[in-house]
Amino acid sequence: MLGPVILAASRSEKMRRFVSAAPGTKQVVDRFIAGETVDQVVPIVIETVGKGLEVTLDVVGEDITTREQAYAARDAYLELIERLKDLDYGPKAEMSVKLSMFGQALEGGHELALANVRPVVEAAAAIGTTVTLDAEDHTTLDSMFAIHEELRKDFPQTGCVIQAYLFRTEDDARRLAANGSRVRIVKGAYKEPAEVAIQDKTEIDKAYVRILKILMEGDGYPMIGSHDPRLISITQELARRAGRKLDEYEFQMLYGIRSDEHVRLAAEGHRMRVYTAYGTDWYGYFMRRLAEKPANLLFFARSILTK
Ligand code: FDA
Repeated sequence: MLGPVILAASRSEKMRRFVSAAPGTKQVVDRFIAGETVDQVVPIVIETVGKGLEVTLDVVGEDITTREQAYAARDAYLELIERLKDLDYGPKAEMSVKLSMFGQALEGGHELALANVRPVVEAAAAIGTTVTLDAEDHTTLDSMFAIHEELRKDFPQTGCVIQAYLFRTEDDARRLAANGSRVRIVKGAYKEPAEVAIQDKTEIDKAYVRILKILMEGDGYPMIGSHDPRLISITQELARRAGRKLDEYEFQMLYGIRSDEHVRLAAEGHRMRVYTAYGTDWYGYFMRRLAEKPANLLFFARSILTK
C-alpha cells in the first residue's frame, strides 16, 4: 500500500525539498548512497573489489530540465572513468546510466541523450569496461532500446535493463537474447499503470522467472538484478539446466542491501556486481529504495523524529 504513495512522492518537488532538508535524512541516505563525490566513492570501489566483488557505478540524477545539466551528467561520468583508469579494474568496474539524466526528456532529447552517452561509452571501452543503460519509466523505453541498439553497433558489450513487471518485457527479452546482448533483468521500480504493467507481486515474480528462462536459453549475457532469495536459487537452477558456466551470467545487487549475500555468492564462485550509486542528486533513487521496503520508511521516520 505504502509503496505507490512513496513512488508518487518521488516525483514531487515539494517532497524533495522536505525530505532533503529533514534532520536525520543523511543518516538513512548514507545506507544506500556511497558518497557525494568521486573522491568519496573511489575508496568504496577499492574496498568492494578487494572483497572479490565487482561494481557498476551510478552517478545519481534523473529528470533533468536543461541541456547544461545533461552535459554536466556526461562530464561527471567522464571524470569518474578518468579515475577508474588509474585503478585498472577493467570490466570489474562498469557504469550504469539513466538516459533521462543525459537529456532524453528535453526537446530533441533522443538525439541529445545519444550524443551525450556515446563519449561515456567510448571512454569506458578505452579502459576495458562498459556501460549499462538503466530502465526508467515505460514512456522512455523505446528510446532507450533504440539508443542501446545504436551503441551496440560500435560497442557490442553495452548493456541494458528490462523490467519484469511490464507486459512488453517478454518480447524485449526474446529480441535481446537472440542478438547476444548483456541484459540486466529486474522486477521494476517505478509506479506504472495497470495498462502497461503487472500489479500483483506474485505475478511479477512469475514473469521474472519466465523472462529469466528466455535469457538463460538465449545467446546473451544475463545479469540478475535482485535480492530475492527465491529468484537467486531459481537462477542457479536455470543456469545449470541451460548449461551455463559461472562466468556466463552474473548476479547484481544494490549497495547497502543484503551485503552479506553479496559476499556469500561471490565466495561460491559467482560473479557478483554491486550497483553503487553516488552523487548529490540522490532523491529519486533514495525514494525508490524506501518504496521497495516499508521497513525502510519506518527507519527513516524514526531517524527524523529522534533528531
Ligand atoms: P524484492 O523487492 O522482493 O526484495 C527481496 C528482498 O530483498 C526483500 O525482502 C528485502 O530483504 C530485500 N530488499 C529489496 N529491496 C530492498 C530495499 N530497498 N531495502 C532493504 N531491503 C530490500 N529497477 C528499475 O526499474 N530499473 C533499473 O534500471 C533498475 N536497476 C537495478 C539494478 C540492480 C543491480 C538491482 C538489484 C535493482 C535494480 N532495480 C531497477 C530495482 C528493481 O527493479 C527492484 O525494485 C529492486 O531490486 C527490489 O526488488 P528485488 O528483486 O530485490 O525483490
